[in-house]
Amino acid sequence: MNARTTRTLAVALSLTAALAISGCSGSGSDESEPKMTVSGAFMPQPVNDKMAGGFLVIRNGSGAADKLTGATSPLSDDLQIHETKDQKMQQVQSMDVPANGELRLERGGNHIMFMGLKNTPKVGDKVTVELRFEKAGPVKVELDVKDRTYNAQAPTSTAGNGH
Ligand code: CU
Repeated sequence: MNARTTRTLAVALSLTAALAISGCSGSGSDESEPKMTVSGAFMPQPVNDKMAGGFLVIRNGSGAADKLTGATSPLSDDLQIHETKDQKMQQVQSMDVPANGELRLERGGNHIMFMGLKNTPKVGDKVTVELRFEKAGPVKVELDVKDRTYNAQAPTSTAGNGH
């Protein structure tokens, strides 16, 4: 009984210590360099070669807020960042990626828009995209081309990310 109490206390103490360390990152070098990880990246198979949408979740693992400012891809020379308001999509210059938070590009909402495709990708293909950020370095991701009705409903998860 007594030994058990001591052990529980030790665990509680080490947890507290861990929290204190991660919470005190004032001198950490990663404050200036946001760390981005991308998961669940996909593109519904485009209907034609006029346009396509890209969806993914960008997670910022650092304490520094950043912005998604653009993207490039071999599939199109004109990639735009779109948000959806009142069921209409419109181009924006950037989107916030909050510190220790995420930016979700998902169906019915924010997305990457590929204009004027150089070919029409089919289910099973992969489309390479390089994401640009205001502070973080560019991040290369591959979008899996999925069925037109596909929807990534996966909750926040890092599964399926090849990195
Ligand atoms: Cu759009």
